[in-house]
Amino acid sequence: MSYYAVATSLIGLVGDYLFADRRAQDQASTEKLAVEAAPLFANAQMEQLQTLLTTSGGELGGRLMVLDISGKVQADSYSALNGSRVELPEVASILVDGKTVDYGVHQLGTQQSLSLWSFFTPINTDAQWVGYCSAALTADGMTVGLLLFSSPIQDMMQRLTSLQSRMAMYFLIAAAAAMTIALILSHVITKPMATLTRGIQRMGRGDLSVRVPVKGSGEMRRMAETFNVMSEKLKMLDQSRNQFVSNASHELKTPLATMKILLENIIYQPEMDAEVRTDFLSDINSEINRLNLIISDLLTLVSMDSKSTRLNRETFKFADIVTDVARRLSVVSDKRRQDIKLQISDSCEMYADFAKLTQVVYNILDNAIKYTPEGGQIRVRLIRSGRDAILSVTDNGPGIPKADQPHIFDRFYRVDKARSRETGGTGLGLSIVNQLVLMHGGSVSVQSEEGKGSTFTVELPIHQG
Ligand SMILES: Nc1ncnc2c1ncn2[C@@H]1O[C@H](COP(=O)(O)OP(=O)(O)OP(=O)(O)O)[C@@H](O)[C@H]1O
Ligand SMILES: [Mg+2]
Repeated sequence: MSYYAVATSLIGLVGDYLFADRRAQDQASTEKLAVEAAPLFANAQMEQLQTLLTTSGGELGGRLMVLDISGKVQADSYSALNGSRVELPEVASILVDGKTVDYGVHQLGTQQSLSLWSFFTPINTDAQWVGYCSAALTADGMTVGLLLFSSPIQDMMQRLTSLQSRMAMYFLIAAAAAMTIALILSHVITKPMATLTRGIQRMGRGDLSVRVPVKGSGEMRRMAETFNVMSEKLKMLDQSRNQFVSNASHELKTPLATMKILLENIIYQPEMDAEVRTDFLSDINSEINRLNLIISDLLTLVSMDSKSTRLNRETFKFADIVTDVARRLSVVSDKRRQDIKLQISDSCEMYADFAKLTQVVYNILDNAIKYTPEGGQIRVRLIRSGRDAILSVTDNGPGIPKADQPHIFDRFYRVDKARSRETGGTGLGLSIVNQLVLMHGGSVSVQSEEGKGSTFTVELPIHQG
């Protein structure tokens, strides 16, 4: 469109430029001749008029005619049209509209006049193009007739048409190039989009192994990368969910199997000792307790996962939780003759979920007591550092091998499967700790050396007011 506009106005401008000179020249000579011819015509000196027209027409390279006010030819440098009528807008504009001079370009033999401002109307070069210049003949201030000068302008028309056809060719080339580039570009842009769409569709059908090629640069590349990362994450999530379900089923099956054996013993040995039977029943009872614990732990984890649990924030002193949990667990540690020392250097007043943080402290301290041998030592330190409360629980128990350390916060992960089973752990405690601490925007870590002991550190933002 813009090319069309530019080409059209360019041809118009070039045409105007070509004609302006010619027109000025023709007008000047016609006006000058009109002044000479007017008295001759007014006084009916037709022979002198004819001579003037013939000689001047020869000099100017065109035809000269004198018309009376009715538009009839009275004299003609070619002496051919005398007496006939000339129907031209340039004649009418003088005789009817009262102009003194006019100019126009026409195709000979037709009514077509030249319009330079149209790009797609082809100029017919086979036809004769003629420039007409008319000037009024005046005598005593009255228009008595007009002088008409016509000259062929074929050379100019040819230049104009060659320009027009060249412009049209350039137009077609430019349009074709633009179309091709647009097609190529749209293909280049949409192809990775289409690949990505297919990838998303496959993923929607449940295939989590889809990856799309990362090509090109910019947004498309980033989109493909993001898609691949997302698909990888989904796959991992899917795997960990499967793992979780199988671990959970396994954990639930173990106590069930134990109970089944105990119950079968009771059923098939009706003559069993009352004392032994009571032992068996109390074993079943403790397995049921264990099942209960596992299920409530699982429910805690699942409810945290679904993000439906919000933090129930209130203001309290974190130090109170620490002393309270230590007091509650001292029943167990006293039995194991363990020495728990509390070092609280700040009360750490904070705005957080009291119940959830109580569980965090409980699970960590419970582990320390459970895994530290009898007579061991446990240090609990609470300090405040800037806007964080830092709790560390150190024991001199068996420690955790380096290889296991990255996994102990995973669900169901236990370092020593046999020993933990005996102590009653399911491997959910620390993963619950991890989740709860993350919910508070904090972090939990472990430093441990095998045979020497472990330190669990929890950092929690205080979030006051
Ligand atoms: N203080 C510690 N010293 C040595 N090992 C530890 C200590 N705390 C945790 N562990 C190891 O990390 C594992 C995971 O701990 P976690 O609390 O998640 O599970 P658990 O104690 O086995 O079971 P649960 O806490 O669910 O009853 C434990 O099985 C144990 O092997
Ligand atoms: Mg535990």
